[in-house]
Formats: sequence, structure tokens, C-alpha cells
Amino acid sequence: MLRRIKIIGTGSAIPPRVITNFDLEKMVDTSDEWIKERTGISERHIVDKETATSDLVAESTLIALKAAGLEAKDLGAIIVATASPDTAYPPTACWAQKKLNIPGIPAFDISAACSGFLYGLELASALVESGRYRNILVSGAEVMSRIVNWEDRDTCVIFGDGASSVIVDRSDGESGIISSYLGADGTLGDLLYQPAGGTRMPASQETIDKKLHTVHMRGKEVFKHAVRTMGDAAIRVLKEANITNKDIALFIPHQANLRIVDATCRRAGIPMEQTHTIIHKYGNVPAASIPLTLNDALQKGRIKRGDLLLFAAFGGGFTWGAMVLRW
Ligand code: ACO
Repeated sequence: MLRRIKIIGTGSAIPPRVITNFDLEKMVDTSDEWIKERTGISERHIVDKETATSDLVAESTLIALKAAGLEAKDLGAIIVATASPDTAYPPTACWAQKKLNIPGIPAFDISAACSGFLYGLELASALVESGRYRNILVSGAEVMSRIVNWEDRDTCVIFGDGASSVIVDRSDGESGIISSYLGADGTLGDLLYQPAGGTRMPASQETIDKKLHTVHMRGKEVFKHAVRTMGDAAIRVLKEANITNKDIALFIPHQANLRIVDATCRRAGIPMEQTHTIIHKYGNVPAASIPLTLNDALQKGRIKRGDLLLFAAFGGGFTWGAMVLRW
């Protein structure tokens, strides 16, 4: 059954500073050729030292509000998906709320790594469908540059900073979620995580010396699980929607690595021409990756009202999800 919600505005905030693969060659033992061949990434954007995640949330929200013809005071709730919050608490959503100067409405974060945006969209849809909320902001936002070890070539070449926001409201027409699915497997948590800084391993001189507050990743295992879970989640929601890949106007997968996108497409039987990618210019911007890709596709005129879109995500946790949405 169609769940009648509509994305009425989108907006992205990309920090102006660019770090190219050639810049990274000067920082760690790597090469432009290796990074491009293994990940598809040429460059990524990085914030300046004054900017935190909530600043990017607020900036992208103002653009999304303008696109929707709304003002900040019209928002009904703020949901921020992030793996790189301003602070452990308050939630980044509350810091963004302060910046937008709209106290009063609920504001909270979703911690589901790269799948966070789809988790947020699912939750926002349920709140809108309940009839009790309108104009819910769902923002995917990351400042990965602050939690990456810039001496570790396995991880520092992959990630980028940025945010993208959407506003979700009820739909009177055919727009809506046709099928969706979320999943997680906590037994795989230590394949991709930030070990220190929480209650399991609080900050100490030792954790700082060992750089345990940065992203730790077992790349090959992550790769394998990403392809299987994103591919199978995509197949599942297509089946539940009673459609095939041929009915989809555009596939918008999480942009972790171009080879992961390519292998996921092959597993789900979706041609690359039906897929939008932005990883070459932004790198992996975990929870922001899907809304950034959506917004980029909209700006490039690849999506029109009534199109069927397929989303699929995968991230630390492990978490994953997929959705068929009629735009
Ligand atoms: N530059 C040059 N060489 C490198 C680099 C680098 N930046 N990084 C690793 N290497 C070397 C390795 O040391 C290894 O050398 P060795 O053969 O002498 O041991 C060699 O390259 C091959 O390394 P692999 O790890 O086998 O390379 P692989 O093809 O698996 O690619 C990569 C590594 C890109 C990390 C890949 O495994 C991957 O993309 N995994 C998924 C990562 C990901 O998407 N993470 C985010 C998930 S989403 C989230 O929730 C945050």
C-alpha cells in the first residue's frame, strides 16, 4: 500500500575546500591511480576548522526550506542522521535547531552510520503518516575529516565532509513510499567502528596516543557485506513493490566505493546507466551520501515527478536498508 509522503524540498551544503588524491599523495603513501582504481574517488571536500556537523545541517536546511517555499518556523521536527556528531550529546539536531533559531519542536539524531538517512526517512514518514507531524526535516550530515586518522592510508582516502537535507510532508497525489526495508546485524560491529570516546573505552592519554578515536575498518570484509546486503535489500524492495529493475527511473545507492556500487548493481541486475553516482567528487560522506546523490540527480534533471526511485544503503553497525519511492 502506498504510504503517502512527499519530499517537498532538498538542499546540500558542501564545504568549499577540496582535497585531491594528489594532495593525499603528499600526506600518506598512496597514489591518485590506486585511489581512483580501487574506490572511484578523485577528490573530497573538507570543512575549515570553525565548522562542525550542525553548521552543515543548518546550511543545507535553509536551501531545502527555500526549495519547499517554507521558513524554518514551519518545520515540525528535526531528524539528523550522522556518524560524526558535534558532541556525544546534545544531539547534533539540537545544535542545528539552535542555529536555525526554532526552539520547541522535537530534535534528535539517528546513529545508523551510512544507513542513517534511510532510517530517518522511514521514521519521518511514519510520523507524517500518523497525522501528528508535518514538514519534517531529515538531514544526513558528516564531518568525517575530524574522526579520520590522516596517517592511515586505508581509511583517510575514502571519506569526505558534507550534508544534505530533505523536507518530508504528506502527499495528496501519487508520491510516496511503495516499499521499504531496514536491517541490522550488531555481531559485525567491530568490522567498522570508532573504538574510543564512548563508555566502552573512554578518552584517555592511551586512546589518544593510539588514535582510537578514529575510524577503524576491515575494508575487505566491509566490501563483501556491503555488496551482499545492499544488493539483496534492493532486490527485496523491488519484489515487495511488485516491480522490476526496468520500472525504476533511477537507482541511488550509498556511495561507499564505486566498485561496491558496481558490484551491487550487478547483484541486483540494475545497469550502471540507471544509477546516479557522485563519489568521484565527494568521496564517501556516510549518512549524507544518499541525500547528496539525490539532490545532485535532481539538479542534473535526472528525476521528474512520478518517477520510481530505488534507494539502498549499508553502513557500520552493520546496518542496511532499501526503499522504493515514487517521486
Ligand atoms: N594507497 C595505496 N595502497 C593502499 C592504500 C592506499 N590508500 N590502502 C591500502 N593499500 C594497499 C594495502 O596495504 C594492500 O597492500 P599489500 O597488498 O601490500 O598488503 C593493497 O593496497 C591492497 O589492499 P586491499 O585492502 O586488499 O585493497 P582493496 O582492493 O580491498 O581496497 C578498500 C581497499 C578501498 C578500503 C576496499 O576494501 C573498500 O572500499 N572497502 C569498503 C570500505 C568502505 O566502503 N567503508 C565505508 C563503509 S560505510 C560506513 O558505514 C562508514
